[in-house]
Amino acid sequence: MKDENATIWDTNPLSVRNLWVEYLGERGMVKAVRGVTFDLRPRESLAFIGESGCGKTTLGLALIRLLVKTARISQGEILYRRSGRETAVLKLKGREMRHFRWCECAMVFQSALNAFNPVLRIRDQMYDTIRAHWRMSQSEMRERALSLLRHVQLDPERVIDSYPHELSGGMRQRVLLAMSLLLDPQIIILDEPTTALDILTQRTILELLKSLKAEMGFSLMFISHDLSIAAELADRVATMYAGAIVELGLVYDIFYRPAHPYTLGLIRAVPTVTGDFQDLISIPGSPPDLIDLPTGCKFHIRCPYATDRCRQEEPTLEPYGPDHSVACFHVDQVRRDADAIWEGTGHVAAGEAA
Ligand SMILES: Nc1ncnc2c1ncn2[C@@H]1O[C@H](COP(=O)(O)OP(=O)(O)OP(=O)(O)O)[C@@H](O)[C@H]1O
Ligand SMILES: [Mg+2]
Repeated sequence: MKDENATIWDTNPLSVRNLWVEYLGERGMVKAVRGVTFDLRPRESLAFIGESGCGKTTLGLALIRLLVKTARISQGEILYRRSGRETAVLKLKGREMRHFRWCECAMVFQSALNAFNPVLRIRDQMYDTIRAHWRMSQSEMRERALSLLRHVQLDPERVIDSYPHELSGGMRQRVLLAMSLLLDPQIIILDEPTTALDILTQRTILELLKSLKAEMGFSLMFISHDLSIAAELADRVATMYAGAIVELGLVYDIFYRPAHPYTLGLIRAVPTVTGDFQDLISIPGSPPDLIDLPTGCKFHIRCPYATDRCRQEEPTLEPYGPDHSVACFHVDQVRRDADAIWEGTGHVAAGEAA
């Protein structure tokens, strides 16, 4: 007999299908998110990596529909699932949308460290959030706020009565995490969760995220241009280039068996992810103008593998091995080269050692 609960449990909380987002800028239409499709799985941690301006934040904002007025979602579908119910996020209105934004899917913004109201104590900022969505007495709200501050390993009694400026950057980042968890969302989106922090504080926040996720069981979508953070925190990684996902796979495959030239380029440009590559090689050129995109593959101008086909036709994201998809006409060649580079470093990919 089919186990109903297992079915619900296994359902992906979020499915994004062919999502397109554009900004109407002074120079023209900025195509910031182009045909993005992915599923967020239960309790997984999915990282979005890619250079500055490739559309990561725009994608996150589109999911909770907090885009600026000059932006529009021109196409696509966002499906959210909880307790056996499916919701089309793009059809939600007013109250329902606000409920979704905090109670189902909460986002901690990229510039969030400055996003506190400077004249309100932490407790009032937390109570305001609870009050807007739940009916709770003052003492229940205090209990809830204290408990979450404790969860993010802060001294709750001290922090709850503080003003934001009395806290360090790392402490404020923890408070934001606590606030995002206040209404028990199933999905947390973190945009550059540790970028503004020093390396030791980054480490403690990463450890904290891992333990919170294990304990509370939410799905995490996080955006980072720091590959070492993705390598450490993610179960799966999506590489974005010029508004599109060009590779999506398990974290091991992305870092040790990449099949898109851009992912390979990103990894080779960073010493800290693996520590193994002897020669760091930067990716030549810069990302394309999202107003005036080149024809064909958007990476072809910078790509050492580019052929005439790449200049004319844009590859779509296609399955390449189990749980791995790539948008490139030269996947086999890239994979062979990635393997050869690893062999040169003495690393043997798992499953190939026999
Ligand atoms: N309000 C806006 N109006 C017009 N264009 C915008 C706006 N916000 C972002 N863009 C453009 O959309 C594209 C994607 O921006 P986005 O902020 O999503 O990138 P990102 O990947 O998050 O970059 P970063 O790593 O620097 O945070 C960029 O080309 C950017 O210039
Ligand atoms: Mg961003």
